[in-house]
Amino acid sequence: MKVDLIIYNIGELVAFDGEGPYSRVRPDNAGIRHNAGIAVRDGVIVDVSSSEDVRWRYEPERVIDAEGLLVTPGLVDIHTHLVFAGSREDEFELKLSGATYSEILERGGGIYRTVRMTKQASDEELIDRALRILDLMARGGTTTVEVKSGYGIDVDEEYRLIRVIREISTRSKQLIIPTLLAHVPPRDQDRRTYVSMFKELIGRVASEGLAVYVDVFCDKGAFTVEESMEIIESGLEKGLKARIHADQLEYIGCSKLAGRYPIDSVEHLEKMPGENAEILLQSGSIAGLLPTSIIAMMDPSRPPVRELKRKGVPIAIGSDYNPNNQTPLVQTAMDISTYLLGLTPLEALAAATVNAAYSLGVGDRVGSIRKGYRADIVVWEVENYRWIGYTWGYNKALYTIIGGRHIVPSSRSGLLD
Ligand code: NIG
Ligand code: FE
Repeated sequence: MKVDLIIYNIGELVAFDGEGPYSRVRPDNAGIRHNAGIAVRDGVIVDVSSSEDVRWRYEPERVIDAEGLLVTPGLVDIHTHLVFAGSREDEFELKLSGATYSEILERGGGIYRTVRMTKQASDEELIDRALRILDLMARGGTTTVEVKSGYGIDVDEEYRLIRVIREISTRSKQLIIPTLLAHVPPRDQDRRTYVSMFKELIGRVASEGLAVYVDVFCDKGAFTVEESMEIIESGLEKGLKARIHADQLEYIGCSKLAGRYPIDSVEHLEKMPGENAEILLQSGSIAGLLPTSIIAMMDPSRPPVRELKRKGVPIAIGSDYNPNNQTPLVQTAMDISTYLLGLTPLEALAAATVNAAYSLGVGDRVGSIRKGYRADIVVWEVENYRWIGYTWGYNKALYTIIGGRHIVPSSRSGLLD
């Protein structure tokens, strides 16, 4: 049988091919196989067998020898603010000298400043920049990316950004999941009026099919719980799915909304009381954690990982790429989640693949190495999953296969030769 691609001589394959997201991921339920092979046709995985079987069964157009190394599903980034202009490195210095994220935001810096810079940029400038970052992400193993609007604030500008995201998704190699984000209320407009206008925008964006998710930054200094409820309700009514920024800066009750609405992913959670893990468990929401963003906030708070794990709430992780945290690789977030949050290497890998796919509502198509799934695959420059976190600070992806069509090579580090 003719196929487009085979990958053979896989030393260790971590397939995550069980049912649903993993809350108690262990070597015996992670779908780990040795000496495996994968066949790909028309962008989809058609066979996962032994290396020998895959070699003799198929006539492939292209062949990758995995050299006895680790192969996993492509990485899925659950949370990015990819579309913006400018940078804020001077605020990094301010934070180092003691200013908090919230103080900078209150003074009209932070998000408000990025909004001003983004307004000056043309569509093409925003698209080019985002595509460059997406290429960098691809070289680091990222095959699916959630992309939020949110640096428009003014509803016409926010509409422009969600259309820019549409254009990015048609031009990028990766699968893009577009999200309309209510980021912060405008400083020069009545909040009530703004929330009503944003709800109209949700209607327009949903009817034009421009977003899959609605998201709201529910926190002190951003939207209140009541405003967030209005925004989420309106999104759900108009047929969007919901995700939420919750309990990042202060605890004002935002993560509790998972008990009221079907919210696929409740994210950040640095200030969430451990007892709310029960609400997430009951709701079936994924806990979305953003390790590099925790570092960039320069705040000692940590999400209640122990309670989340004890209850069995599935955890996903993302890069939270944004001007406050310009770390493009979810691979980096995955590596440091071991040290910072106490995830095991296997939990970290599940968090950046299968669980991340469920966080984005695409767990039936991506995040696993499984027959019928999109051929999003990473060949790593290490021999087994225990190297996740064990080494970090360089790119360990060797080949990233995206949708079976793009084979993106990275330069070898040679570290383990
Ligand atoms: O997810 N918390 C809000 N949004 C971003 C930060 C955005 C910014 O500072 O520009 C986040 O961390
Ligand atoms: Fe965010």
